Amino acid sequence: MQIFLDSTDTKQIRELAATGLVDGVTTNPSLIAKAGRPMLEVIAEICDIVEGPISAESVATDHKTMIEEGKKLAAVASNVVVKLPLTKDGLIACAELAREGINVNVTLCFSAVQALLAAKAGAAYISPFIGRLDDHGADGVGLIGDIRQIYDNYGYDTEILAASIRTAEHVRGSALAGADCATIPPDVFATLFKHPLTDKGLDQFLSDWAKTGQSIL
Ligand code: G3P
Repeated sequence: MQIFLDSTDTKQIRELAATGLVDGVTTNPSLIAKAGRPMLEVIAEICDIVEGPISAESVATDHKTMIEEGKKLAAVASNVVVKLPLTKDGLIACAELAREGINVNVTLCFSAVQALLAAKAGAAYISPFIGRLDDHGADGVGLIGDIRQIYDNYGYDTEILAASIRTAEHVRGSALAGADCATIPPDVFATLFKHPLTDKGLDQFLSDWAKTGQSIL
């Protein structure tokens, strides 16, 4: 599974990228607003930190302007992936950008049939928002499974990018359901390492080792 960070906090991205476990980054207009810096400057910096796919989202609503914005975003760096909303205009723009060799991450996906259309439009990634579905009493992880089955039925190579991740359980469920990637907020990513029994077991190992009076180096 590819692990992306869902963030524009370049300090946190840099720190977590140092683990060697970060394969890409996703952003969205809300995260750009949170950064409080010019969008293209933030995207360019993130592209320098992480060499994998970096999603940068168009803010247009008509396909003509989406295509223009998409080309400008793609020109920032070779690892930019253009993010477009799952609307009729978004899929028209997706198909055109895909034809021109620009990778598109179709975002704000909340149903399997939306994901089907995104694959037909040539999306490189589909972003089902599982946390927001759960927030509305739906089954976010279940959607991942439905999309996986549909894509496998027809041999679509669009990558399923589980998004709107709230917990480690969302990561687990997405991995079990066959998502290709998960985009994870840094705070949630930090919890993936943790388990109380790991801490307890390490404390015991080190305590027993200390009693030996030995050192390895
Ligand atoms: O950036 C895409 C998605 O992960 C954002 O989800 O629900 O945390 O705003 P959310």
